[in-house]
Amino acid sequence: MRILLYGGTFDPPHNGHLHNLSLAAARVRPDRVIVMPAGVPPHKAASATPAALRLEMCGCFRALAGTEAIPQLEISDWEIRQAEKGIKNYTDTTVSMLTEAYPDDKIYLAVGSDMLLTFDRWHQWEHLLNNCQLVAVSRECDDREALWAKAARLDPTGARILFAADDAMPMASSQLRAALQRGEDCTDALPESVRRIIAREGLYLPMETQKHSGLTIAQAQQLAKSRLGEKRYHHTENVKNLAVELAQIHGEDPEKAALAAWLHDTAKEMPKAELLQILQDNVIIKNNPAARPEPVWHGICAAILAQTQWGVQDQEVLDAVECHTTGRPGMTKLDKILFLADMTSAERSWPGVEELRALAKKDLDAAMLAALDHTISFVRQQGGDLDPMSIAAYEDLKKQTEGNHKL
Ligand SMILES: [Fe+2]
Ligand SMILES: [Fe+2]
Repeated sequence: MRILLYGGTFDPPHNGHLHNLSLAAARVRPDRVIVMPAGVPPHKAASATPAALRLEMCGCFRALAGTEAIPQLEISDWEIRQAEKGIKNYTDTTVSMLTEAYPDDKIYLAVGSDMLLTFDRWHQWEHLLNNCQLVAVSRECDDREALWAKAARLDPTGARILFAADDAMPMASSQLRAALQRGEDCTDALPESVRRIIAREGLYLPMETQKHSGLTIAQAQQLAKSRLGEKRYHHTENVKNLAVELAQIHGEDPEKAALAAWLHDTAKEMPKAELLQILQDNVIIKNNPAARPEPVWHGICAAILAQTQWGVQDQEVLDAVECHTTGRPGMTKLDKILFLADMTSAERSWPGVEELRALAKKDLDAAMLAALDHTISFVRQQGGDLDPMSIAAYEDLKKQTEGNHKL
C-alpha cells in the first residue's frame, strides 16, 4: 500500500493546500492520504489559533477523498497529541511512527518547494530520506531549476525525490491571515467550511472590526464556549454572573465586567507548549512572563490573544483578564471585581468562600485583602511558586487601607 503524508501548520488550510495535495496525489497515486496538522513545529513559531480549530479546519481536505487519485483520506491528530503531551516532534519522528505502524507499506511525504530547499537543515534528514520518498510540489512559479539542483544534491541517486506536476498555486497561510486582518475578501482562497469556522470563532479578525467595534459580549461568550470544556464553561458563566452583579453594586460598567469574565479563562485549556510559545512571541509587549509561575500564564495569554487576535481594545478589560489569578499593584475596580468573582463564583466550595463572596458585595478592598491573604497562604502551604505580583498586590492594598503591616 502507498501512504502519502501531508503535513503542515494549516493556519488556516487554504485552496493552495488542496491544490498541492491533489498534485502530489496525482504523482504518487496513494491508496491512502494522511493529513496531519502540526502540533508545535520546532522550526516554526506556533500560531495563536488553538490546535483543535486547525484540526477542525482540516476537515476541508475530505472534499478530495473518494476520487481516483485519493481513494481514502484520513485526518490525524497524532502530532497535535504529541505536542499536548509536551513531546517535541519532528517530521522524522512522525514518519518513523508511520513506518512502524505500516511496516509493509511505502510512505511518501509531500513537501513544498520551500521545505525541499531547506530539507538538509531538518532534524535527522538523512534518516528521514531513507524512511520515505519525498514528493516535491512547487509553491512558486519559477522555482523548478532550484528544486532540481537541490534534489540532485540531497539524493544523487535520484530515486528518493519525486516531482509533482509543475502547476504552482502560490498562496501562503501567513499572507491570508494578514489579508483577513486587513478585512480583505479571501473567499476565493478559502474552502467554505474553513470560512465558516473562521467566522464562528472570530479568527483573524479584521483590523477595522477591532478599531471600531471590538469584540462583542456575545462573541466573547462564543469564544469561551468553543474553547472550554463543559465544566470550565459553567465556571466562566458563574464568574460572569457574579462579576456583573459586583459591577452593579460597586458602580462599575457591567458590560466591561461581562466581557472580561467571558474572556478570563479562554487560554486555560491550551497546551503548555502553546502558552509558552505565545509568551515567547510577545516577549516585547509583556515583560518576560515565561519566568512567572506556570499557573498564571493562562491569564496573560488570554489577554494577549484578546488584544492581538480578537480585537479587544479596552485596556482595562485586558488588564483585568491578565491579572485575574495574581492581582497587581494599583488594581482597578474592574481588576478586583474579576479577581473576586473568579475566586468566589457560585460553584466554588472551599471553606470560607461564602464569607468572602458576601464581603465582596460589601467592601471590595477588604475582600481583596482577604482574598490575596488566602491565595498567598494557600500557595505557600502547597509549596507552589508564589508569583511576586501577588505579594506586590497585597502590600500595595495593605498600604492603601491600613498602613505598613507586612506579610
Ligand atoms: Fe483562571
Ligand atoms: Fe477562572
